Amino acid sequence: MKTALGAASSSAAAIPDDPDVAVALMAHLSGAAPCPILRAIATESRIALRAAVDRKPGAPLQVITDALPLRELLTSSAFVNVLRERGWDDDAIAEEIVMLTFAGWASISAVLESACTVGVGGRSVTAFDVDELLRLAPPGWLITRELTAPTVLAGCTLPSGILVMTSPWLIQRDAAWWPEPGRYDPHRPGLRKSAAYLPFGLGKWACPAELYSRSILLELLRRRDAGAAAVTIRPALIDERSACLMRMGTDTR
Ligand code: HEM
Repeated sequence: MKTALGAASSSAAAIPDDPDVAVALMAHLSGAAPCPILRAIATESRIALRAAVDRKPGAPLQVITDALPLRELLTSSAFVNVLRERGWDDDAIAEEIVMLTFAGWASISAVLESACTVGVGGRSVTAFDVDELLRLAPPGWLITRELTAPTVLAGCTLPSGILVMTSPWLIQRDAAWWPEPGRYDPHRPGLRKSAAYLPFGLGKWACPAELYSRSILLELLRRRDAGAAAVTIRPALIDERSACLMRMGTDTR
C-alpha cells in the first residue's frame, strides 16, 4: 500500500480541485472523476466515522461504509495499477481507498486551512512552504501509545497499560528548538532534519502517506491564491481531530 501511495504521489497533478478534499482524494486514488456517488460515499463515511468515535466503550465498531459503489468506478490510476499488479482484487482496493481517504482527508484539509490563514498559496509555493506549514501547525497534534509491557523511556521505567502521549504541536513550537516558534518562516535552516520535527510521526507506525501528502499539498497550494495573512489567529480542529490555524473574529477571508 505504501508503494502504491508512492506511485500516486508522482501523479499529484491529476488530483481534482474539488472543494471537498475527501472527494478529491478518493477520486485521485481511484481514478474516478468526482461524481454524486463519490460525494455520497464521502458523506456516509464521515457520519459512520463520527458514530465510531462517539460509540460507548465496548460497543462494536461498525464498518466505515460500503465501498462497493466505489469498486464500480475504479479505473487505472497509478495507485490502483500498483495494487492490481500485486494481486489485490477490486473489492479490497475500493475498501483500502475509503479507509485511506478517511485516515487522511482531515489532515490535508487542516494544512490547506493553515496555509490560507498565514497567506501561503500560488505558483511560488515550494516544498519549503509545505515543510514549514507542517511545523507551525502539524495536523497530527497528539500521538498516543498504550504500553503493552513495562518500558524504559528516557531513563524512567513505565508500567504496562499506561498511555504515553507525544505532541508534535508542542515539540515543533518549543522555543528551545525553534527561534520565534509562532512565526511562519519557510527558510528555517535544517528544518526537516531536526530531531524536533515529526509531523508524520516517527518509526514503524509513522504515517504511510508522507510522500503522497507532501506532493498533493504542494500541488493544491500552488493552484490557490495566497490572499492576505490573517491578523488574528486561533488554533482549531478540522473534523474534531486535525489541528490547524484559523482566522479569528471579523478578520474573515
Ligand atoms: C498533511 C497530511 C498528513 C499528516 C500530517 C499525517 C500525519 C499522520 C500521523 C501523525 C499519523 C500517526 C503516526 C503515529 O501514530 O505514529 C498518521 C497515521 C496515518 N496516516 Fe497520515 N497524515 C497525513 C495525511 C495522510 C493521508 C493523505 C493518508 C491517506 C492517503 C494518511 C494515512 C494514514 C494512515 C493509514 C495512518 C495510520 C498508520 C498506522 O497506524 O499504521 N495520512 N498520519
